[in-house]
Amino acid sequence: MVCLGNICRSPLAEGIMRHLADERGLDWHIDSAGTGDWHVGEGPDQRSTRTAMSHGIDISKQVCRLFKISDFDEFDLILVMDKSNLSDILAKARNEEDVKKVKLLLGDKIVPDPYYDDAQFEPVFQLIEQGCREIIKQHNK
Ligand code: 4NP
Repeated sequence: MVCLGNICRSPLAEGIMRHLADERGLDWHIDSAGTGDWHVGEGPDQRSTRTAMSHGIDISKQVCRLFKISDFDEFDLILVMDKSNLSDILAKARNEEDVKKVKLLLGDKIVPDPYYDDAQFEPVFQLIEQGCREIIKQHNK
């Protein structure tokens, strides 16, 4: 799960996907990272932590990190939140195999950045949850 800061959207996506995978007994290795380094080493934004907690998901122990090239080797799927994440990650792809792993979480829609608008955290949670459910459906066929 990749976004810009790895403190708002992708920590939610990591927590939600892990929660849904656990519920279904899926043994998936799920992680998140950012393309920008401003918050490396910090926990998630409190607004994301609170929103997740209100849905029974604890993301408070996550730690912000940067996306790294070896993530292309470690993961089968790299889900990004918006078009700028998409172009930032595709610019790091080394080959066609890397490129094929990178997808928008919502397929053809974006998860907007809620950083500057407190009211967007709950709608962003809902969007991410829908996206995660869809991904699970696609991979469980
Ligand atoms: P995120 O939101 O990409 O969903 O984690 C942001 C968090 C921090 C910043 C930008 C977006 N920032 O510029 O610090």
